[in-house]
Amino acid sequence: MEALLAALEAGGGGAVAAIAAAVVVLAALYFAWMGSKERANTPPVVPGLPLIGNLLQLDEKMPYKTFAKWSEIYGPIYTIRTGASSVVVLNSTEVAKEAMVAKFTSISTRKLAKAFSVLSRDKTMIATTDYGEFHTKAKRFIREGLLGSSAQRRFRDTRQKMMDNMLNTFHSLVIGNPHAPQNFREVFWDEIFRVSLIESLGEDVSSVYVKEFEREISKEEMHRTMVVDMMTCVIVADWRDYFPYLGWLPNKRFDTRLVTAESRRTAVMRALIDQRRERIACGESRVSHSYLDFLLAEGTLTDEVLTMLVWEAILEGTDTTSVTTEWAMYELAKNPKKQDRLYQEIKEVCGEDTVVTEDHLPQLPYLNAVFHETLRIHPPISVLPRRFVHQTTTLGGYKIPAGTEVTINVYGCNMNKEEWEEPEEWRPERFLDGRFDSADMFKTLSFGAGKRVCAGSVQAINISCAAIARLVQEFAWRLKKGDKDEANAVQFVGHRLHPLYVHLSPRGGT
Ligand code: HEM
Repeated sequence: MEALLAALEAGGGGAVAAIAAAVVVLAALYFAWMGSKERANTPPVVPGLPLIGNLLQLDEKMPYKTFAKWSEIYGPIYTIRTGASSVVVLNSTEVAKEAMVAKFTSISTRKLAKAFSVLSRDKTMIATTDYGEFHTKAKRFIREGLLGSSAQRRFRDTRQKMMDNMLNTFHSLVIGNPHAPQNFREVFWDEIFRVSLIESLGEDVSSVYVKEFEREISKEEMHRTMVVDMMTCVIVADWRDYFPYLGWLPNKRFDTRLVTAESRRTAVMRALIDQRRERIACGESRVSHSYLDFLLAEGTLTDEVLTMLVWEAILEGTDTTSVTTEWAMYELAKNPKKQDRLYQEIKEVCGEDTVVTEDHLPQLPYLNAVFHETLRIHPPISVLPRRFVHQTTTLGGYKIPAGTEVTINVYGCNMNKEEWEEPEEWRPERFLDGRFDSADMFKTLSFGAGKRVCAGSVQAINISCAAIARLVQEFAWRLKKGDKDEANAVQFVGHRLHPLYVHLSPRGGT
């Protein structure tokens, strides 16, 4: 300021230059002060390296564990940097629900990594599209045609058949080799994929001719192309996601792998849809109750949208439910007392001779608790696909500027010590202490929340709970020696690292 006064006294061009210099200095000081004030109100930042931020600190396979560890230091909401992007990570149910429900209007856009974007054909899926007209319409379709209560009633017999087939297979395996451990995954996945095909396409397709492959492919190859390859490819990281300004550089290996997987998936889906269309053209009943027939009857969808919506139903109908049921059977086999409590509950409701079915589920609170506790400790989707803040908002009392990305660490929310007592313990009893309403499915956040909540939770509960009940009613479960609860995250949906092998002893009765 003194320099400014001196210059004014001296007058002339020197004075103008001095005034300009002083204005610049004052403005810089003002903006620095404002910036620090604003930053003071933004979430704490996890220290990282210049340019790459926290990328090297993240466990590529299980980032959810690193996120949960950081929440113990920085609190339930903090910011990380992955290359050029700032990402706010949420690790408590309260703040995650604030983002998904109360602040939804400011955070309703998806931020997709390149792999997600290619495989979902630029958001042509319910789960990956932004909130808007397409989302509302497509979510209504899947509810009315497949997953809502009345659609679910239409598929009741299909699910019951699944349970009968599965139990018959396990009984035959045990009779064939009573002392050998049985591979749970192989039997369950085969059956659930069958249900998915019947619900989505109207039949249990055993093979299909794919023009682009110039050959017939088996059911196993269908499963691999439409489910396994997709779940594996979708989490492949592309460095261009972290440095969008380098997006013009080629990443040939990544691009080729993705484009090949995507075009194979589309070829198989088209072949399946064309097969159904040919049957309809040959006079076969149009009404098979399948989701495909429901969508064809709409008559307004392009082939691309039709293909993507039916594929989405097959993809999401298979993996999450299988993984959850496998983890539940693992936990029950590992905890004989809890397994026995469940068996006694089923016996009290069904007696010695009645087969437990979906109809009994409302009378089995401990079973419900087993299911939700399994989802809590082993959420199939540990980290939800990123959201994009398109309107500056607040979360957990912090300012979140427009342009920030938000990620919800479901695992971190479900393991938060402030919200769950001894969260690392698998203890279904925690849901029966009167603090939870048994109808509240969102208590663990594993199905998400708000307008983007899982559309398939009713089906998942019907299949998984009925299967767990029936499997415990008919067999005593014991782990193969040396089994460990290692998780594997080489796919979008977190699996057990190794398939579950169990010793099964028939209980008699039923
Ligand atoms: C235990 C089983 C399941 C779990 C844990 C689960 C979990 C989830 C989660 C966490 C979301 C929200 C993702 C987000 O907010 O970003 C979601 C969305 C969705 N799920 Fe599930 N899911 C399961 C089963 C199913 C099944 C069986 C289907 C269908 C066949 C299904 C269809 C969907 C659809 C269509 C969405 C997108 C909803 C939207 O964006 O509005 N899910 N699921």
